[in-house]
Amino acid sequence: MPNAVQVSQQTLKPHLEIEGGCRLKGEITVSGAKNSALVLMTASILTNEPVRIENVPELSDINVMANILLEIGVTVKRNSDALTLNAAGISQLNPPYELVNSLRASFFAIGPLLSRRGQAKIPLPGGCRIGARPVLEHIRGLKALGAVVSVEHGVVSASVPGISKRLKGASIVLDCPSVGATETILMAAVLAEGVTTISNAAQEPEVQDLARMLNEMGAQVVGAGGPTITIKGVKQLHGTNYSVIPDRIEAGTFLVAAAITRSKLRVSPVIPEHLSAVLQKLRDCGCQIQIDDEGVTLIPGEIVGVDITTQPFPGFPTDLQAPFMALLTTAKGTSVVTEKIFENRLQHVAELQRMGASIKVQGNIAFIEGVPSLSAAPVSGSDLRAAAAMLLASLAANGTSRVEGLSHLDRGYAHIEMKLNSVGSHILRHQ
Ligand code: EPZ
Repeated sequence: MPNAVQVSQQTLKPHLEIEGGCRLKGEITVSGAKNSALVLMTASILTNEPVRIENVPELSDINVMANILLEIGVTVKRNSDALTLNAAGISQLNPPYELVNSLRASFFAIGPLLSRRGQAKIPLPGGCRIGARPVLEHIRGLKALGAVVSVEHGVVSASVPGISKRLKGASIVLDCPSVGATETILMAAVLAEGVTTISNAAQEPEVQDLARMLNEMGAQVVGAGGPTITIKGVKQLHGTNYSVIPDRIEAGTFLVAAAITRSKLRVSPVIPEHLSAVLQKLRDCGCQIQIDDEGVTLIPGEIVGVDITTQPFPGFPTDLQAPFMALLTTAKGTSVVTEKIFENRLQHVAELQRMGASIKVQGNIAFIEGVPSLSAAPVSGSDLRAAAAMLLASLAANGTSRVEGLSHLDRGYAHIEMKLNSVGSHILRHQ
């Protein structure tokens, strides 16, 4: 080709080079849950004794959270997959803006800081590509517990009035079952004086994991995993040694990898009830699902279109909407995907269309017409789960794809190309 512009590797952004069409075989291991480990790390602030958290995934988000906690005086030591955190010496009560702004979960530290020290200054977590990500529910809950909260110049300042500097139990009804707000209020209430009830609480497994660890630290939390959580405040919490639940979103992503490559694959460890809605949709679209005491095996059949609407747990998780849509673009027949949790979480549609997918979007609804095959293309993921969706689509596409957006992907998936290559994929990482 005359004057073809040779784009040399070094001018490309970091990307994965993915050979499509490989069958997968064998078993893939699931790491600890990112969205649990992050909040458990902030819960270590609630005690002046060491908290050891095992099965912590090796992710960039975990490293950012560790740096934020270090900034406020928590010591953090990693030994293999375990973190030991000690908040005995917390000093600084307002972590630096640029760190907090890069990690939404760091805002969840406001509850424990208020509980422990009676005050906190946390920058508002930025919105992101998938939505505005407000924190009004968090603030409403903290105010209900007696905190004085103001938001100025992008920083949330909270303090507990009175000599005791102790929050007071209250009855709180959330406008929406926000995961983060439920976790923030939970961590603020465990050391409050009196009883707190959270109604319309988020029921996600990560909320249940937090409640379990808090109770092992001496808290009195009842009802996590249901719509109403009751917390009887205690004077102090002690250290503990806790292991994070397996990451249900990573597990679901690997199950979709098996389905989209039409491969039989075992994924473990998996807690099946953490993925009920997803396993049901995999069955509905033509896969056999075998559940054993440690994991799940997917045996693909002819993949047919299904309809999906994202809901709070135990409904279909928004974090698997993009990965599952990649599968549906290769299904026989039509599918309708409705995103009801975040207002802007269909950006992966344009990238899937570049690979030949047939999708029309109206508002928060995507209408998908399955195609016999996708074609490899240079694509990128605009957020963590969109990047995962592009990787999955590339596994099934004809030809070799280039997937950019590794900074997003590495936030939520530890060594994803190594794990998939260990079961038969051909993925090369170009830094
Ligand atoms: C958690 O985010 C997860 N992140 C998200 O995972 C996940 O998508 C989300 O829960 C929903 O399951 C972590 O746990 C670190 P929400 P969170 O508050 O807590 C609205 C991933 O890919 N809302 O439950 O921020 C909000 O705008 C990430 O791993 C309010 O309106 O989610 C959204 O529409 C992405 N006001 C809906 O609730 C508030 O005060 C769900 O948000 C708070 C939230």
